[in-house]
This record gives sequence, structure tokens and C-alpha cells, in this order.
Amino acid sequence: MLKLGILISGSGSNLQAIIDAIAAGTLDAEIVTVISNKADAYGLERACHAGIRAVHLDPADPAYRGASDSSTPADKAAATTAYNAAIRDELTVVGADYVVMAGYMKLLGLEVLDAYPNRVLNLHPALLPSFPGAHGIDDALAYGVKITGVTVHFADAEFDRGPIIAQIPVEVREDDTADTLATRIHAAEHTILPKALQWIAEGRVTVEGRRVYIS
Ligand code: GRF
Repeated sequence: MLKLGILISGSGSNLQAIIDAIAAGTLDAEIVTVISNKADAYGLERACHAGIRAVHLDPADPAYRGASDSSTPADKAAATTAYNAAIRDELTVVGADYVVMAGYMKLLGLEVLDAYPNRVLNLHPALLPSFPGAHGIDDALAYGVKITGVTVHFADAEFDRGPIIAQIPVEVREDDTADTLATRIHAAEHTILPKALQWIAEGRVTVEGRRVYIS
């Protein structure tokens, strides 16, 4: 059975969709840990309610700064490395096979990516490569596209860039606000992310360069 480590930063509605799909028997997986970089992420509560191990790893924890008190670029880079190594260690100690960034709003370091090559999924609320970054829904609406959507892709060392596993279109309506569009985007996310994970659980996903094939 697929063992998932889930990274979150906020509400965790996509984490909930994965929890629900597992409970419904449509996703053959187990969540072995939920890691948040934010102490107040509601997703941590969702994990606790579901009896899932949940961990807050605070990037500002002085432990990641080692003995250094200064904040030169080199010190910051060392702290980021130590933080990502802590994420990797949490994932490996619980035996995660795959990692899902489900609303994890930080760049994931090579310490994790190298430990999980083509095994880290990211979810993005737009049709990549359009509208990357932290405001994919607002940016699509402001640009005036008629179709936007959701992308599930393998993560690499750049935000929102790795090989695309699945995309689902969402129509932009003339009377849409950021909120109404976000509601339909999130509904699409909650469908496509568990589905993509089930393809992986079934061993149907292969990656060749940027191309991802679903058998
Ligand atoms: C989602 O829209 C995801 O695409 C984006 O952040 C949001 C997270 O939502 N990266 P939630 O925390 O899963 O509710």
C-alpha cells in the first residue's frame, strides 16, 4: 500500500480529500505523516481528528540555525538545508514512499527532492505553465482567461515546474469573483489529486523526461 507523507501550510482541504478517498476505498493508500510549516494550519487538526501523525516543523526554529546568530545569505542557506533535512528525516522515519505538497507554500529543498526523485507531487490551482506562483487563481481571473484549472505535477527544485501528471479545466464565468472561482477550483483539486494518487498506487505512472505516461 502506498505510504504518503503530506506537506501542508493551511486549511488542508486537499489533505481532507485524500483522507476521505482512503476512507471511501477509492484510494489505496495510507497517510503516515502530515507535516506543516505553520503552527496554526487547520490541516494539523484535520490530521489529528483522523488519527494521523501530525508534525509542525517551524522553519524559524533556532535549532536549524545551528550555533550561528547572524543571518548572512550563507547562514540562511544553511538553515534552509537543515530545515529540509528535518522534513526528509520525518518522512523517512515513518517510511513514506511518496510525498504530496497539498497547499505547502514553501519551496521544497533538494534534501527532500533528492531522497524522493519523481516521488514528490505538487498541486497547483491553475493550468501550468500558466499562472505559476502563490496567486494562480487571482492571476488567471485578472488576466481574463476563459479557461483555467488545476495541475498535479511532480515537483522539482523550481516552483510549479516539474513534469505534469494530470490537469483538469475549470471554466471562468463572467460573473466570477476570486471566491466563486476558487470554490470550483478547489472542488476540482479535491477530485483530481486523489485520482492521480490512485494511478500511482496502481503502478500506472511512468516518467520520461517531462512526459508522464498513465497506462
Ligand atoms: C490549493 O488551492 C493548492 O492548489 C494551493 O494551495 C491551496 C491549498 O488548499 N497550492 P488546502 O490547504 O488544501 O485547503
